[in-house]
Amino acid sequence: GLPERVTVYEVGPRDGLQNESAIVDVAVKADFIGRLAEAGLTTIETTSFVHPKWVPQLADAAELLKAIDLPPGVRAPVLVPNERGLDRALEAGVAEIAIFASATETFAAKNLNSTVDEQFTMFAPTIRRALDAGLAVRGYVSMCYGDPWQGDVPIEQVVSVGARLTELGCHELSLGDTIGVATPGQVIALIEAFGKAGVGVESLAVHFHDTYGQALANTLTALREGVTTVDSSAGGLGGCPYAESATGNLATEDLVWQLDGLGIETGVNLEKLVETSVWMSTQLGKPAASRVVQALAG
Ligand code: HMG
Ligand code: MG
Repeated sequence: GLPERVTVYEVGPRDGLQNESAIVDVAVKADFIGRLAEAGLTTIETTSFVHPKWVPQLADAAELLKAIDLPPGVRAPVLVPNERGLDRALEAGVAEIAIFASATETFAAKNLNSTVDEQFTMFAPTIRRALDAGLAVRGYVSMCYGDPWQGDVPIEQVVSVGARLTELGCHELSLGDTIGVATPGQVIALIEAFGKAGVGVESLAVHFHDTYGQALANTLTALREGVTTVDSSAGGLGGCPYAESATGNLATEDLVWQLDGLGIETGVNLEKLVETSVWMSTQLGKPAASRVVQALAG
């Protein structure tokens, strides 16, 4: 069966804008986030407290959080890789963070300057201190279904990284198809493997990039397996600067079109969301990747 309601976890301001070559003005980012909330999104990943040299696009994280004023009930998680990032996030007054782990050695090296094992040396004290401070902690696992340098990724390796994040106290795991290569059979296999390892579907979210056009099919497959939290980015913005072959995330509009059609509640107003992505595309000077935005705004 399918769920009655899905939580859309919007990543456009973070996953989207981290990958734009242009550095977007902080006021435009704040406006974007405000418009997303007005369109009914209740979880908006706003920015990252990573090293500003690694992701200059999001170097204004602290300033941005001062500039946004979200209605009560809207969650605004931020990415944090280490204790230095957590200090900055705490100073900015965040209530929720997301740690991001790699399932593969190459991506751990490129994205975190670490190894698969050593990344946990960085995460363990960060998560512990965040939980002690009363923050909620989400855990991402990247390269769940394929890695641009290493090819296939053993499923046991993905489950082992995810299970360690859960043991450290992450309340939710987001399974990242960082380069958008997954197909539905892999999605079923991974969700089942997590179940066997004691990580139930209620604590799993899915995060598909749409490089090979499989994101919606993979998402529907995950919903049939019982997942109820789906990551997406308005307009289909996104990618990862440390994984060249990655394109944008599943577009929020494409997701909402499908869920609306299935009668699954999201709370998102599609018309307002499309307006937001059209507005953002004029700010960025290029059309939105989302097929639904193109169809409705064309
Ligand atoms: P490093 O160079 O190994 O860091 O980078 P370090 O711990 O050796 O520290 C070096 C210097 O950086 C020190 O300063 C630190 O204080 C400073 P110094 O003492 O030399 O003056 N530093 C920081 N400054 C500000 N904020 C910080 C921070 N940390 C250290 N947080 C590090 C290690 C993890 C920091 C680096 O590799 C990094 O920032 N990586 C982030 C890469 C990134 O953001 N990638 C994109 C997000 S992941 C993604 O998109 C995938 C996802 O969407 C899911 C999917 O699709 O699969 C989530
Ligand atoms: Mg991503």
